[in-house]
Amino acid sequence: MHDEMLWSVLRAPMEFHHKSPQGRILNRFGKDIDAVDTEIPDRLSDCIACGVWAFIAVSLCCVSAPPFIVFMIPMALIFLYVLRIYVGTARALVRFSTVSTSPIFEHYSELIDGLTSVRAYSLEQAETMEHYMRVDVNSGVFVSMMDCERWSCVRQVTLCAIITLVACTLANLSAFNIFMGSIPVALLAVCVNYAMSTAETFKWFVMTAARTEAHMSQAERIFEYCDLKEEDELHKEGVDTEWPTRGEVEFDHVCLRYAGSAQETLSDICFKIGGGMKVGIVGRTGAGKSSLLVALMRIFEITGGCIRVDNVKLSDVGLHDVRKRISIIPQDPVLISGERREYRLNS
Ligand SMILES: Nc1ncnc2c1ncn2[C@@H]1O[C@H](COP(=O)(O)OP(=O)(O)OP(=O)(O)O)[C@@H](O)[C@H]1O
Ligand SMILES: [Mg+2]
Repeated sequence: MHDEMLWSVLRAPMEFHHKSPQGRILNRFGKDIDAVDTEIPDRLSDCIACGVWAFIAVSLCCVSAPPFIVFMIPMALIFLYVLRIYVGTARALVRFSTVSTSPIFEHYSELIDGLTSVRAYSLEQAETMEHYMRVDVNSGVFVSMMDCERWSCVRQVTLCAIITLVACTLANLSAFNIFMGSIPVALLAVCVNYAMSTAETFKWFVMTAARTEAHMSQAERIFEYCDLKEEDELHKEGVDTEWPTRGEVEFDHVCLRYAGSAQETLSDICFKIGGGMKVGIVGRTGAGKSSLLVALMRIFEITGGCIRVDNVKLSDVGLHDVRKRISIIPQDPVLISGERREYRLNS
């Protein structure tokens, strides 16, 4: 699941990475994978063990004192009813818990990136409060999860006590020959003994089943990321290994609209740049200069028209080939502290 999700995230279009905060992605690879690796197998094996043990204990009770089955059927139905309410709430709370963890990761990574700005504007106090607020929201969900568990525990313990009480009452009535007089006392003792353990095992079965089900929402979140839309193919057949040789770039009625944006950033752009020419593109900020390169590198796919490099349509070339064979020097400055020689920039 991890590898599938990793591949899916790496192959997701750039639009996905623009929309999804880093913290959210980190959370799926951290907390959700951890739940699938440790929580779900542990809870599931406990649940199976308790389920088998409860089944054996109930069967023994019913075999040793058959009238007990009449009482166990409504009790099992009440247990299932409590389980249904608890599981639904617990599942939603586990989901809230994982969702409310992402903002903590997001804030943390943003803080590390912008540490210099935070210090320059003396925002340490405000950022600390913001961090506490996000942690508070997450802790609030955790407290609610504990409350929910206690709610279910109280009901289950009460039901367990009723089961034990009924088994003991039946045994006492039988001892005085009032009810079930034909059942030997030894078998009634077995019934009481197993009724006590059944009650406890039933409780654990319900708890572990509910926890397994609740953690399944984390597996669901992983599956959601395993099925992301993919970018175009990385390699395509029929592209010359030497392409591009001249470096002639042609934009033919190109349109580009960023996802979620109402307007087209590039609208019906047509120009042709001959091979070897040096060209400067001038425009006010936000005019779409960088978007031309975004379209050229196929970081965002164009919504109309076509781009040709050396008379080959970019859409006919695999993404790896386009991005490897066209070089770009990014606009964002990269500041490195230290000596140039140390980083061997000139070697
Ligand atoms: N990833 C994106 N998602 C949505 N809109 C975007 C995205 N990148 C850029 N835009 C929008 O597209 C328009 C053009 O942006 P672009 O970065 O191409 O302009 P520019 O001419 O390079 O500006 P500058 O001179 O500031 O670098 C702007 O309105 C910008 O807000
Ligand atoms: Mg720009």
